Amino acid sequence: MAKSSYAIVAKDLRKSYGKVDVLKGVNLKVERGTMLALLGPNGAGKTTTVRILATLLGHDGGTVTVDGYDVKTEANAVRSVIGLTGQYAAVDELLTGYENLVMMGRLYHLNKDASKRRADELLEQFDLVKAGSRVVKTYSGGMRRRLDLAISLIATPPIIFLDEPTTGLDPRSRLAMWDIIKRLMSAGATILLTTQYLEEADQLADKIAVIDGGKIIAEGTADELKQRVGKERLELVLIREKDFDKAKKVIDGDGMKFDAAKRTISVALDGGAKHLTKILGELDAAGVGVETLSLHKPTLDDVFLTLTGRQSSAEETNDEDEDNKDKGGKK
Ligand SMILES: Nc1ncnc2c1ncn2[C@@H]1O[C@H](COP(=O)(O)OP(=O)(O)OP(=O)(O)O)[C@@H](O)[C@H]1O
Ligand SMILES: [Mg+2]
Repeated sequence: MAKSSYAIVAKDLRKSYGKVDVLKGVNLKVERGTMLALLGPNGAGKTTTVRILATLLGHDGGTVTVDGYDVKTEANAVRSVIGLTGQYAAVDELLTGYENLVMMGRLYHLNKDASKRRADELLEQFDLVKAGSRVVKTYSGGMRRRLDLAISLIATPPIIFLDEPTTGLDPRSRLAMWDIIKRLMSAGATILLTTQYLEEADQLADKIAVIDGGKIIAEGTADELKQRVGKERLELVLIREKDFDKAKKVIDGDGMKFDAAKRTISVALDGGAKHLTKILGELDAAGVGVETLSLHKPTLDDVFLTLTGRQSSAEETNDEDEDNKDKGGKK
């Protein structure tokens, strides 16, 4: 049978805990060799989805295939083609990083020499050579995450699930993790990454699916999602407040916004650079002095706000969600 061009396909995926519907018909497709970011706030259903896709959790409705294998009826085959960070890489705190890697290599049926070779390679790749001889108990959060990811890659799986790989990391460790993820992508892996960070999805993913309340509420490339929110905007700060009325008359365009106290006016740019030149020319002709100008592309935060009417910040979590933390695995 010819392999589908999709490495992961979830159709109408449903999951409930008692009466609570956690996934309400999730549809996802990930093309081979690409990354899909599943973006959503706390409690949206990201971990639940990933755990089902990775065969760690059963589902109540719908179908999921990974590399063409059904997660329900062909779970073993699915497991042989995936890597998952966090959950099922059970790191032993009392062993060193190196020992953990060798041990997992043996579990994956590599022989002793091959396990050692792979451990060395991964320590090198994940910048853990020095730390490799220390027990994992002494690792920082960032080192621990890198080891988790390294362990999930022992068998060089073609399909990788990364469940919030950078949550809680400092900016430098986050960048280091992004580098590692980019390398996996250039090596041809198919990746499903979950994140609460819009910027992360924007930076790494080929496509983004926004999940909220157990449903996919939008899908597309970062640019497509931004398109839904609107055009690029020009924002001007005037030199003199008294020029404000004149400026408003000149600019008077699509969705003009202004704040007289701050001397700012902003407008959607319909015709790109031409429109910009026209506005600046007319302001100049009207004798309106411009102190600063800046262009704003819509951010994914704007997308989220438009789609859900809410900010995407983690602080929006309700307590109900907090209660169930950790049940789903890594955090
Ligand atoms: N074992 C469980 N029993 C009951 N409810 C659960 C269970 N596991 C998860 N949930 C609920 O399912 C919903 C989705 O949880 P999930 O862990 O998938 O969210 P998430 O998107 O991964 O969130 P986060 O960003 O916080 O990791 C939440 O409301 C959560 O409380
Ligand atoms: Mg989660």
